[in-house]
Amino acid sequence: MKVLVVYDSLFGNTQKVASAISQAFGEEGIVSKITEIDPSKIGEFDLLIFGSPTHGGWPTPAFQKFLKEIPSESLKGKSFAAFDTRATAFIARVFGYAAKRIADILISKGGIPVFPPEGFLVKASKGPLKEGEIERALEWGKRIREVSAKIF
Ligand SMILES: Cc1cc2nc3c(=O)[nH]c(=O)nc-3n(C[C@H](O)[C@H](O)[C@H](O)COP(=O)(O)O)c2cc1C
Repeated sequence: MKVLVVYDSLFGNTQKVASAISQAFGEEGIVSKITEIDPSKIGEFDLLIFGSPTHGGWPTPAFQKFLKEIPSESLKGKSFAAFDTRATAFIARVFGYAAKRIADILISKGGIPVFPPEGFLVKASKGPLKEGEIERALEWGKRIREVSAKIF
């Protein structure tokens, strides 16, 4: 099973979560920043895991551009899971979160969610992550690996 974890990150927190998730897949997991991967290349992977910081309730502009540029034919029937990082502030709940938006876009292009969208918490915009979130990210990755092992 070839697994690609793609993330965007302004302050490094989403990068840390992405790395922890990819560790759950051992040598099968590749982690890449959104700006370092060609959207047309994702068809080469069996499972895609996408994560972005939440900005105004959405993924970053670079992430939205990337999602738009993925050719539909490389997403049809492709297993995926989406995550985001988000602030704990109450006001943030009003706008919604990036992971659900990523999932909706991927589903509209034919992707198949293997796991519900998940959020990981930062204490403030620049971080750090809340205590225990790295461990939770690793566990989340392991659960996705278990579910995916039944598919592949
Ligand atoms: C421009 C901007 C907009 C943001 N909007 C939201 C938001 O709508 N909801 C939320 O929960 N957090 C919001 N945040 C906090 C980010 O989610 C937080 O900076 C991010 O999780 C940190 O991840 P990173 O270190 O990978 O960039 C915002 C941060 C920035 C810089």
